[in-house]
This record gives sequence, C-alpha cells and structure tokens, in this order.
Amino acid sequence: MNTEVGPELTTNWGAAATEPVPLVVLSLDSHSAEETRAIGRRLAAGLFPGQVIALQGTLGAGKTTLVQGIAAALGISGRVTSPTFTLVNEYRSPAGFRLIHAHTYRLDEDRALAQLEAETFGLDETLESSRDVVLVEWAERVAPLLPADHLLIRLEPGLEPDERSITMSAFGPRSAEVLAVLNSSCA
Ligand SMILES: Nc1ncnc2c1ncn2[C@@H]1O[C@H](COP(=O)(O)OP(=O)(O)OP(=O)(O)O)[C@@H](O)[C@H]1O
Ligand SMILES: [Mg+2]
Repeated sequence: MNTEVGPELTTNWGAAATEPVPLVVLSLDSHSAEETRAIGRRLAAGLFPGQVIALQGTLGAGKTTLVQGIAAALGISGRVTSPTFTLVNEYRSPAGFRLIHAHTYRLDEDRALAQLEAETFGLDETLESSRDVVLVEWAERVAPLLPADHLLIRLEPGLEPDERSITMSAFGPRSAEVLAVLNSSCA
C-alpha cells in the first residue's frame, strides 16, 4: 500500500442526476501485483453473496490479480486463473456461496450482440443471483446486464511498469458499504 498518498474517498449522496452517478468513489494506488492482491483481500472483508463487481481495464491491467486476492480472502484455495477462454470459472467458498469469475472480452464488441451471447451461457441470470459473488472482467461489454447496485473497479497503468491506479465506484448503497469497510481498513 502506498503510504505517502492515502486512498481518496469522495461521496455523492443526494446528487440529482439523470445518468447513474456513483454514491462513493475510492481511489487507490498499487505498486506491485502483490499489493493489488492485498487490496483484493481487504475488499473481500465487506463482500456478501449477491455482490456484483464489474472490472474494467486493458489486457494485463491486473483484473485477475485483484480477483486472486478477493478469492484468497474468501477462503478459496484453488488457483484462480483468468477465464479468458472458458468465459466463466466457478469456485465454492467455505462459507457456502459461489464466487463466479466471468470474462467477456471474447463476446461481440456490439453491446446488443454481446448481451445475447452472454444470455446463452446464463450470465444474465448469474448477475441477478443474490446467492453468489460475481466478478466480471471486461464488464463494459455487458453493461446493460449489470444490476443497479454494483461496484465498478477500473485499473489503469501508472507511470512505472508495476504501478496501477485503481478507482472503485459504488453504484448503490450495498456497494457503498463495501467501500466503507475497505476505506476503514486503509485508515
Ligand atoms: N500493480 C500491479 N497490479 C496488478 N498486476 C500487476 C501489477 N504490477 C504488475 N502486474 C502484473 O500485470 C499482470 C496482470 O495480469 P492480469 O491477468 O491480472 O491482468 P488482466 O487485467 O486480468 O488481463 P486480461 O484482460 O487479459 O484478463 C500480471 O502479470 C501481474 O503480475
Ligand atoms: Mg484477466
């Protein structure tokens, strides 16, 4: 964790807008893959079944690396790899819920077609499930399928090769609570 510049938290409670506006935005910097996994482990502390996390960022940005940290903290012992070709990987947590890790990069770039493709493998129903924790890489491809209350995490390269700037936006009160827990662990 960067000790020089702390996480930055902004809130928009009560904002009036026609476009969905995140209730809370938390910005963090990571300087290594291990630090990104550690952020994932701390993020997992506030997660509950039904949470959807949309992951954005270019190839190699660190989306799967973040998922590895989340999975480890949820007690998932198996190796977590990118479902780039399988589209969906499922893990069972010791607490009894599933962690579903989807990758939609290979779906059509046209959102309407991507949505139809996603429906053929049941991603729409998975995203409506209140029983699972669902993480979706390249979530912009299936944006219309995301529930209103979701956490959007964007990873962007920094100035140094191993640097990433991570912006987490909570769309909805339940996701805002997840960020509140993460933010309190940064204090
Ligand atoms: N700060 C960092 N955070 C995350 N990964 C990092 C960082 N610095 C270096 N890396 C490296 O970058 C790579 C990230 O790969 P990862 O599979 O997580 O990317 P991805 O965003 O899931 O890509 P894809 O879109 O192909 O699925 C790994 O090799 C990791 O070790
Ligand atoms: Mg990946």
